[in-house]
Amino acid sequence: MLQDKMGRKFHYLRLSITDVCNFKCTYCLPDGYQCDSPRDFLSTSEIGNLVATFASLGTSKVRITGGEPALRKDLAQIIQLCRQQAGITDVALTTNGFNLARNIDKWVDAGLTALNVSIDSLDPKMFSAITGHDKLESILAGLNKAHQLGLKKIKINAVLMRQYNGQDVQDYIDWLKDKPYTLRFIELMQTGDNLQFFKQNHVSGLEIKKLLLEQGWLPVIRDKSAGPAEEFYHPDYQGRVGLIMPYGQDFCASCNRLRVSALGKLHLCLFSEQGIDIRQYLQQPQQQAELTELLHGYLQDKAPSHYLQQGFTGGTQHLAMLGG
Ligand code: GTP
Ligand code: 5AD
Ligand code: SF4
Repeated sequence: MLQDKMGRKFHYLRLSITDVCNFKCTYCLPDGYQCDSPRDFLSTSEIGNLVATFASLGTSKVRITGGEPALRKDLAQIIQLCRQQAGITDVALTTNGFNLARNIDKWVDAGLTALNVSIDSLDPKMFSAITGHDKLESILAGLNKAHQLGLKKIKINAVLMRQYNGQDVQDYIDWLKDKPYTLRFIELMQTGDNLQFFKQNHVSGLEIKKLLLEQGWLPVIRDKSAGPAEEFYHPDYQGRVGLIMPYGQDFCASCNRLRVSALGKLHLCLFSEQGIDIRQYLQQPQQQAELTELLHGYLQDKAPSHYLQQGFTGGTQHLAMLGG
């Protein structure tokens, strides 16, 4: 089992498979993707070796992230490869949904068990102003298809931004009345690139929590392995609401995840100073023992918190670098 000095256990790997993205979200890549690394992303064979090692150490869930992971032509193969490893029971995907409607059936066939899709507005015009793409309708159709195909764990991510979707919170909540999805409001996080935008747009998740409690939403009892999101349910609604509040307290105490970038660097935290290059240990299945020993050692350096409240963003210029 992977565990750090604070007793936090890590059974969840967030694996970025590309840092390229085709959207231009205002808070992340407002000028679009700039090619700042060679596009020599982990191969399927390296991914297989990586996931096999993590699985042997108790990892049960892999979330595939990007950039935009669905830009990789071999995404279905990667999903299948992760799912085939003994001990991996959950293979999840975080996507902007640009080709969801077209491909979700292939991903589900390959073994996908959970899907998170970013939808930062339910108004088509605002959606397009935020992302640079007029895709809301197709993404909603893709979600519907995912549900029809029997995918049970479907979550929507909406980053809270005062000047963009600040007035839309009630619309989102109303939308959940007959939608069997979990909608997560995410506090906008400061990154190296978005300081000005952050100052103008950050909204505290505690404002939303207050609103939810006033409207009769009830906190879901968290199980021990739950990650950072706080969840709420309401007897009259099919959907649930989650709040991801890195600026609230106690967020990092329940951290259950480790990250590996598309170039094969281990990141102990979303906001760590820099990644640790482990790619050289992913070349042969026989390197598993060596990598295992190194991982146990690296974990001893995992920081207790991200220190975002103090304005620390580490080497994280934007979250597309590491898949959030
Ligand atoms: P599940 O619990 O597997 O559904 O994942 P998730 O909510 O972490 O996944 P998702 O990829 O949808 O990320 C949602 C948001 O949470 C993104 O904005 C992430 O950056 C943020 N997030 C996820 N993990 C962490 C974390 O460890 N620290 C911080 N600060 N933010 C995180
Ligand atoms: N703050 C909060 N969430 C962010 N995401 C990307 N950048 C930020 C940021 N600065 C979110 C995306 C997506 C998830 C993977 O990360 O909207 O839902
Ligand atoms: Fe864990 Fe770092 Fe995330 Fe905090 S910010 S919850 S320490 S990965």
